[in-house]
Amino acid sequence: MSMWSRRKFFLTSLAGSAAAGVTNLFARATPGAAASNGARAVTPAVQGKRPLIISSANGVNALGRGMDILKKGGDTLDAVVAAVTIVEDDPNDDSVGYGGLPNEQGEVELDASVMHGPTHRAGSVASVRRIKNVSRLAKTVMERTNHVMIVGDGARRFAVDEGFEEMNLLTEHSRKIWLAWKASTSFNWRPGIDSPEWKEKMSTIFSDTPADQALMAYAQRVIADPPTGTIPCMAVNEKGDISATTTTSGLAWKIPGRVGDSPIIGAGCCVDNEVGAAGSTGKGEENIKISGGHTIIEMMRKGMSPTDACLEAMARIARNYNNDKKKLATFHIFFYALNKDGVHGAASLWQNAYDKGRRATYAVHDGTEAHLVDCVPYFNETAVSD
Ligand code: GLY
Repeated sequence: MSMWSRRKFFLTSLAGSAAAGVTNLFARATPGAAASNGARAVTPAVQGKRPLIISSANGVNALGRGMDILKKGGDTLDAVVAAVTIVEDDPNDDSVGYGGLPNEQGEVELDASVMHGPTHRAGSVASVRRIKNVSRLAKTVMERTNHVMIVGDGARRFAVDEGFEEMNLLTEHSRKIWLAWKASTSFNWRPGIDSPEWKEKMSTIFSDTPADQALMAYAQRVIADPPTGTIPCMAVNEKGDISATTTTSGLAWKIPGRVGDSPIIGAGCCVDNEVGAAGSTGKGEENIKISGGHTIIEMMRKGMSPTDACLEAMARIARNYNNDKKKLATFHIFFYALNKDGVHGAASLWQNAYDKGRRATYAVHDGTEAHLVDCVPYFNETAVSD
């Protein structure tokens, strides 16, 4: 495909996406795939291991740092925060922290939470601008205030008072994708018809270099299907103490001030030191409505495995839509859990990851090396866009 026609294809797709809204996303299941869901199936018992640290798949390269802390006898909350801080600092990861995909005004807004099992404490921050390490900020709320949650400009000021550095969180990568999103949603952000560039609108954003062309292809995906990039990370140490954090840049292109599940204790992050920990990625609104993290903990308390507890939470989300796959196909969501014995599990609404060419997975480090494990899908189908 020539450069011109590739651009044209992109523009056509963008226009199509904008016109169709989100209703056509994930709309068609892979032909012939089983239409089952595994929510009621009891998954086989797995041997637990301690210490153990798990996260969503995008944390796989960071778990080693957390495991080093656990092996040295460090605190479980220090371990999970240290792990996700690596990704928050990474400008090449646009799911959390520095370089996260911004809100509709091009401002990166971050949410995060922590829970410390041994002391039964929690902290969280939401809609934070200009501070990249929001998991550490949530921990600072927990450790240095009498509050649990601080939001918006109050959270930014609190961070500055506590010595966090203020910075512009929008990288060139995320800025270009945001500009492409604006161009896809409004004629105002495209060259006018009197412009020599009007046919090749994206040439004002993406150059002909292979790197920019790859970025343009990636932009096409995240514009059609705005991600809720997030990392939940949870750890259990040798003694059985448990902590967790969840950090996110939230829903790409969100209305400023939108808050998802990640900073909501009992939804995007939940720990009970007698039971285990749970976290989530994906469309946070669905998780908030079922208090997913708390649901999973209570199911594990009753003896369910982490995987079955995650599937039970997923069943409640599906129930909210009467199991209507057409409606459920407009979003994606994932739950992750570990219990006090070091048994872990995860469930995905659909079999695929956000990138529909890949299977949904999560990351586990059991002391040997970090590796990816398949999530158990609620619907045994790959959801694909039209
Ligand atoms: N699960 C992350 C969010 O919805 O913001």
